[in-house]
Amino acid sequence: MFSMPSTTLVCDTEPWKDLKGHVKEIEKTHLHDLMNDVERCKSMMVEFDGILLDYSRQRVRQDTVEKLFKLAEEAHLKQKMDRMYGGERINSTENRSVLHIALRAPRDKVVCSDGKNVVPDVWTVLDKIKDFSERVRSGSWVGATGKVLKDVVAIGIGGSFLGPLFVHTALQTDPEAGESAKGRQLRFLANVDPIDVARNITGLNPETTLVVVVSKTFTTAETMLNARTLKEWIQASLGPQAVAKHMVAVSTNIPLVKEFGIDPANAFAFWDWVGGRYSVCSAVGVLPLSLQYGFPIVQKFLNGASSIDNHFYSTSFEKNIPVLLGLLSVWNVSFLGYPARVSMESNGKGVSIDGIPLPFEAGEIDFGEPGTNGQHSFYQLIHQVPVKPPPWFYLNMVATELKGQEWNEHGLWKLWEIKFGNDCVALPEVFHLGFFSMQLLVDASMLVPNVPMRGSVMLTNEVHLFSLVCIQFANLSKIVMIFYFEIDLPSISFKTFQGRVIPCDFIGIVKSQQPIYLKGEAVSNHDELMSNFFAQPDALAYGKTREQLLGEKVPNHLIPHKTFSGNRPSLSLLLPSLSAYNIGQLLAIYEHRIAVEGFIWGINSFDQWGVELGKSLATQVRKQLNLSRTKGEPVMGFNFSTSTLLTRYLELLAIYEHRIAVEGFIWGINSFDQWGVELGKSLATQVRKQLNLSRTKGEPVMGFNFSTSTLLTRYLEGDSGVQSDSTMLPKM
Ligand code: F6P
Repeated sequence: MFSMPSTTLVCDTEPWKDLKGHVKEIEKTHLHDLMNDVERCKSMMVEFDGILLDYSRQRVRQDTVEKLFKLAEEAHLKQKMDRMYGGERINSTENRSVLHIALRAPRDKVVCSDGKNVVPDVWTVLDKIKDFSERVRSGSWVGATGKVLKDVVAIGIGGSFLGPLFVHTALQTDPEAGESAKGRQLRFLANVDPIDVARNITGLNPETTLVVVVSKTFTTAETMLNARTLKEWIQASLGPQAVAKHMVAVSTNIPLVKEFGIDPANAFAFWDWVGGRYSVCSAVGVLPLSLQYGFPIVQKFLNGASSIDNHFYSTSFEKNIPVLLGLLSVWNVSFLGYPARVSMESNGKGVSIDGIPLPFEAGEIDFGEPGTNGQHSFYQLIHQVPVKPPPWFYLNMVATELKGQEWNEHGLWKLWEIKFGNDCVALPEVFHLGFFSMQLLVDASMLVPNVPMRGSVMLTNEVHLFSLVCIQFANLSKIVMIFYFEIDLPSISFKTFQGRVIPCDFIGIVKSQQPIYLKGEAVSNHDELMSNFFAQPDALAYGKTREQLLGEKVPNHLIPHKTFSGNRPSLSLLLPSLSAYNIGQLLAIYEHRIAVEGFIWGINSFDQWGVELGKSLATQVRKQLNLSRTKGEPVMGFNFSTSTLLTRYLELLAIYEHRIAVEGFIWGINSFDQWGVELGKSLATQVRKQLNLSRTKGEPVMGFNFSTSTLLTRYLEGDSGVQSDSTMLPKM
């Protein structure tokens, strides 16, 4: 059995070092060139069970991917996956196995934890849920006053909330699921803010409401307070005996369920080998979702997840979607230094599984939005926030970068301080300009972001070799203007500038759950949405150059604002539909991707000690608030800031305003424009036109790169569910 020596970190391995060195190679590339290599793009498309993954817009070449596979081998990825599937206690800090795959395993499968097959236990609970949900849905289980329980409030937080909410959000517009949910409501109460309680019970009648308390530990402060609040709500209206009919629980802690006042017969168990955030396929998600949609729909969701479990376990790495996603993420985070994306609680760790501080970047920052909502908000940052320029490129000056500089006493224009040292490489390529010169490649980390990519720096022999340069303003071959600059040593603040690239995953669906088409419109509503799915990745990859803007006659002063450096990585996942099955697939892909990352980084993706510190500090504050409110005791034992805030809170409310403007004023940027959203829009127009032409006139996809053409063609081949000769409205 494999076990990595406790002092070994993955960053000490040869493949890691090799990849580190390889970064310089990749930094010389730009996605607009990589995307032209059709063979490369072909090799970066992977299909499984109806899902198409296109990762050609990642900043990788084929050899990068090969190197990542070597890293996976060195990190014993396969062995670690086997240990997970074999039920070993890989969550070593909590001494637990990690077996969410057992939650969706078919009845006849064997998945062992500590030598015991856990699948029969899983199915005992699933059968109990099926029976209970059918009784509630059919009205054979009724409330205290004999009324059918048509509404469900699921109380839970973190993993006992987000996963079920995700599935519910996706299922509620699915025609089959929607049909099964007719006349029923499912609501989630997570936040402890009393406003959330108010929002959740508004319009509900306790007589027809079933409350499901979901908590693995049955101790989580927010959940338990919310549970007590709804218990009070039920009791106040229906009397204490009503709890038995109106409250059920999902937990691993049955004694505490009983202590709370819920009949253990109405508790649905799960096990400590199910991590909170990996629990949606346990009773945590299956009970509320079955109450809303019926067990057969939820069974399809479990089947989708199970299909990916098999794929993840048995497919070679080259064709393994979760493995590829995980490796690409490691590449983005640990090698390219991008603060990339249920991963944050899992992989937001600072030490290895053996407790050694990590000397490399791990973990991701995840955020997202459905549809084009993100495009009209945070995509601006993804498109145009500064990025670290590639280490070597031809310095090309534009007027904006010269602004504010001055002529020195020699009549030379002093630009900025650039350190010439080992970081610069002189190419013996001589320009015949009447004086000795050579073209230089300059360490771009010394340069300001968004400097356009073409042009050159000339060294002259008129003064000390490295103290004077002239910069030619050139439109490729044609020299427009030459300036001389004095270069001062040493430098330089740009040296430490990393920039922020935010890798994106775009997830698109061929057939909308609710196709809509208005007769006379160029495209259906779903095509309109998908125009952006195809356009945004290209906008991010290709960007827009100064030359293009000049060609479009954009006024000079707007050019820096409308320039997009591009080269921002993304990947695209195209699914045939968003059925319960596909939702299960998606969930499992992302669950396993997190595991892959953690296995490579050598961290424990299955504990969450980081959330405990906030919890314990909150306990101290809770005590203070109680003492101050009930006994008038002054705030004590906190730092100045917290004491002031607490005192103010106990007295009145504070107001936050204008933070965004202050940030912008300090950074000297325009916080009030949003040019970043425009590029995507114009590419979407092109896609929309193509969709219209293909759908109405059968015209083939043309004028796009290989990746977009493939995705578009696949999308057009699928059944969209829309006839473009008549209006179609949602069937909900
Ligand atoms: O947020 C921390 C956490 O421990 C999660 O991992 C978990 O899903 C959540 O709290 C809720 O915990 P419980 O299900 O025990 O109430």
